[in-house]
Amino acid sequence: MGNMNKNQQDTEKRAAALEAVKFVKDGDVVGLGTGSTATFAIKELGQKVTEGLKITAAASSVKTEELARSFGIQIVDIQNLGFIDVSIDGADEFTQTLDLIKGGGGALFREKIIASLSKNSIIITDASKKVEKLGAFTVPIEVIPLAFQYVFDQVTKLGGKSKLRKKDVETFITDNGNYIIDADFGLIDAPQELARSLNQIDGLLAHGLFIGLTSKVIMSSGNEILVFE
Ligand code: 5RP
Repeated sequence: MGNMNKNQQDTEKRAAALEAVKFVKDGDVVGLGTGSTATFAIKELGQKVTEGLKITAAASSVKTEELARSFGIQIVDIQNLGFIDVSIDGADEFTQTLDLIKGGGGALFREKIIASLSKNSIIITDASKKVEKLGAFTVPIEVIPLAFQYVFDQVTKLGGKSKLRKKDVETFITDNGNYIIDADFGLIDAPQELARSLNQIDGLLAHGLFIGLTSKVIMSSGNEILVFE
């Protein structure tokens, strides 16, 4: 991608992030996503905290936790949270019906727990993330290492051309100590069915199909903000 495009994309990511942060109120427990788009929201929230906004936050990754702390945002453990007021996260793809593929950054498991706990789960994107059908972006699947070959074979049986994710030459390891399989199912006609089939595979911790977990998508495109809900 050329620099012009990247600058435009960053402008859009930031605009969507600023719009989403408006939904955060004093006293809220806020879920913080992972990735370049979520980072714009975390920075903006940090700015508001220095101006007096009182929030606590649940972080979807070690990276996000460090970033949020560096901006003075107070982090709480997810394990004892009964709910999250509002969460703000990015996505790799989304459809008009608010189905998503997430996990490009490898944080899908915690992101999914945060989305599930959220009363208001907001996704922020630039215009490049909107698709008619999911699947041009491969589906990230977090797998417990011991079950790697089993899960890989089951995903293949479901029609997913799978690859173990690498970071340079090393196997990519998630914050939870697991592997990621990136599975290419082609364009996905029935994402809910595929999600259900994947959910049945033992040893598969989480997949990047987020179905029915999103309250709204705020997409910035050029000078426009579009909201899908
Ligand atoms: C991380 C994610 C991210 O939200 C997704 O990869 C989008 O990232 P970016 O905002 O950098 O484009 O799901 O697991």
